[in-house]
Amino acid sequence: MLCELVQVCSVLETSEPANAGDHARFMGRCVYLIIGDVTMVRGIRVGIGLHIGVLVTVTLAGPTTLPKLSEQSRACVECHKDSNPGIHRQWGSSLHYRANVGCYECHKANENDVDAFEHFDTYIATIVSPKDCAQCHPHETAEFAASHHSKAARILGSLDNRLAEVVEGNNKFVTEGFPQGNSAAAVTGCWQCHGSQVKVLEDGRLDPATWPNTGIGRINPDGSEGS
Ligand code: HEC
Ligand code: HEC
Ligand code: HEC
Ligand code: HEC
Repeated sequence: MLCELVQVCSVLETSEPANAGDHARFMGRCVYLIIGDVTMVRGIRVGIGLHIGVLVTVTLAGPTTLPKLSEQSRACVECHKDSNPGIHRQWGSSLHYRANVGCYECHKANENDVDAFEHFDTYIATIVSPKDCAQCHPHETAEFAASHHSKAARILGSLDNRLAEVVEGNNKFVTEGFPQGNSAAAVTGCWQCHGSQVKVLEDGRLDPATWPNTGIGRINPDGSEGS
């Protein structure tokens, strides 16, 4: 005899994808059915649910949805839906879109953040770091920060890395931020998995040896680790 926990989630109210139109509030709700007496024979389920044990309704406790998309985000969408159709579509099919969390809510920055730049009357940053996510997802960010994954770029100072950058490396990866060059083996190898230390250039752009980079322990301009 086995007991099985079945999760049935329903979307009570949804909206069309971003490209189709208006924003509506989203609420996820799950019903858990505990079904008893499921017989397994050699891994194949042969009998199902003789009785339903308990019925529980749980409303997912998550970050708060916003009542409507902000003016700033509407402006971002107006321009970027044509120039970045991929980003726009991906956002349009996300829970963020349904919760009215728009481009601005993630990309906004303080004027004096090292990587902030003025962009059509707002200050934004291209990198949305774990610190930015933490405004709304503090638990997930804390869990990740406490993990070994978040520390993956700390190999940069290690002896193994010296092998990659000095012994194997050739320093031919020259960029504005690194006139003496970096090892191509490190930039296109180690850093892509482990993470780079993102360098912000004088005009606020990100040095191309260090970004784009999605290494799991990337060291961001705000000091946080992760990508
Ligand atoms: C008037 C049109 C317009 C508006 C409004 C606008 N953008 Fe842009 N954005 C652009 C264009 C064009 C580029 C590419 C050229 C550039 O880098 O300036 C760009 C570039 C970017 C980049 C990439 C920069 C990089 O490092 O490659 C990000 C991120 C971005 N925008 C986010 C936003 C966000 C968030 C908003 C809303 C707060 C927004 N944009 C509003 C037109 C716009
Ligand atoms: C949930 C947060 C979130 C939302 C919402 C969001 N972004 Fe982003 N965006 C990110 C992250 C994270 C990255 C990756 C930057 C990095 O860390 O390297 C990114 C990257 C970008 C880039 C740079 C891509 C590149 O490789 O040059 C652009 C442009 C951009 N976003 C525009 C937008 C626009 C426009 C919207 C709204 C339609 C939007 N973003 C909504 C988190 C978000
Ligand atoms: C302004 C607040 C806000 C910010 C900033 C934000 N999120 Fe979210 N996020 C939400 C909301 C609201 C939801 C939808 C929760 C729900 O309806 O259950 C969500 C949902 C998610 C989900 C989906 C969870 C699921 O159940 O499928 C993921 C993953 C996620 N966020 C990751 C991120 C990451 C990574 C960042 C930073 C790059 C980020 N978020 C930034 C508010 C935010
Ligand atoms: C394809 C992705 C990938 C690439 C490329 C890569 N690594 Fe790793 N590295 C990993 C993973 C995953 C682990 C964790 C493995 C484990 O613990 O079993 C790791 C572990 C390590 C560790 C041990 C870290 C610790 O805290 O235990 C060092 C040091 C290291 N790598 C250095 C390097 C160097 C130097 C390079 C470039 C020459 C490199 N790695 C390239 C994925 C990668």
